[in-house]
Amino acid sequence: MNYKVLLPPNIEFGIGKRELLAGKILEFGNRILLITGESSFLESGNWDQIEKSFKTNQIVFELIRVRKEPTPEIINEAVRAFSGYDPDVIIAIGGGSVLDAGKAISAMLPLKEPIINYLEGVGDGRSHPGTKVPFFALPTTSGTGSEATKNSVISRVGENGFKRSLRHDNFIPDLALIDPELTLHCQENITIWSGMDAFTQLLESYLSTSANTLTDAIALSGLEMIDKFLERVVNDGTDLEARSGMAYAAFCSGITLANAGLGIVHGFASSIGGRVDIPHGLICASLMSVSNEITLNKLLKEDPDDPAILKYAGVGRIFHGSSDRDDMFYAEFLINKIYDLTLKFRLPKLGEFGLEPDMIPGILKNTSNKNNPAKLSESEMKEILIKTI
Ligand SMILES: [Fe+2]
Repeated sequence: MNYKVLLPPNIEFGIGKRELLAGKILEFGNRILLITGESSFLESGNWDQIEKSFKTNQIVFELIRVRKEPTPEIINEAVRAFSGYDPDVIIAIGGGSVLDAGKAISAMLPLKEPIINYLEGVGDGRSHPGTKVPFFALPTTSGTGSEATKNSVISRVGENGFKRSLRHDNFIPDLALIDPELTLHCQENITIWSGMDAFTQLLESYLSTSANTLTDAIALSGLEMIDKFLERVVNDGTDLEARSGMAYAAFCSGITLANAGLGIVHGFASSIGGRVDIPHGLICASLMSVSNEITLNKLLKEDPDDPAILKYAGVGRIFHGSSDRDDMFYAEFLINKIYDLTLKFRLPKLGEFGLEPDMIPGILKNTSNKNNPAKLSESEMKEILIKTI
């Protein structure tokens, strides 16, 4: 056992925790910049309640709406518009895109420079000093786990597009306030795609070549919740127990992905997401079955004693709810289970969203296979893409 793990410093998790928000803000000051997404949150009773508590506590706010995955331009424009505002805290209430946008704005506001200079693999190699405005994350979907991570994903979609991170240990939110009631308004398709994203993140970080004892424990705990609650929350989005379980699973996935890394599904999510405008969760959900099948087959072919095979089997035992069969049975059961979910959730092929065969060579060139338990060849990666188009 030899590892470094970075955990969020302050976590408030539970139904009704949003009522703590005003008090938490006042620990830093009374001037905030609020980042939200689509209108569903602002139109909900939750927002009325939060706005009222701001008034009672004389908290003043300015608002930025982020309606898609953040681009360098969205972040630069927000920094330009609010560079004279000097907020005490930046609060993001929304899905992964909103949390990532808030995280990036909190990091770029003190520097007042274009964000592109600091993006991994795109900028001019400058490293961010880690200075930022204090940042709180309140997720309204259960997926990316951005409330627990030190990176913000920024995209520019197109032929020379990218999807890259602004990253620093200091960028972990100063407060992760996770109130499952905030996820009750999440639409069915977003519930499915974000839930599958959390599932992928937990499984990939559990199988990752950089996993450690602590991330394994957290990943397994999250996977147990996926088993119990993913199908339940899709069947009934008002089921608060299921919403809580999924919020917990997504949060766990943020911790494990930030510390153990991810696999081939997220390698593709980066390269495909930089090329075609497809929601991140949908890319992951659509790729998950075939990617894991090809990875498991490669592991079995190369070394039947590879510990990753036992990990597949362990997760299969959780989903099957038994333990008296052999490892191969459970490893294969897990793959079949993911295929079943793909059908049950009617996950579309990515071709329906604009991914075309002539984009494959460019995508393969930009896809990282780094922490995947099996090192896939170019032809194996191509097979995944062809089966997903
Ligand atoms: Fe993801």
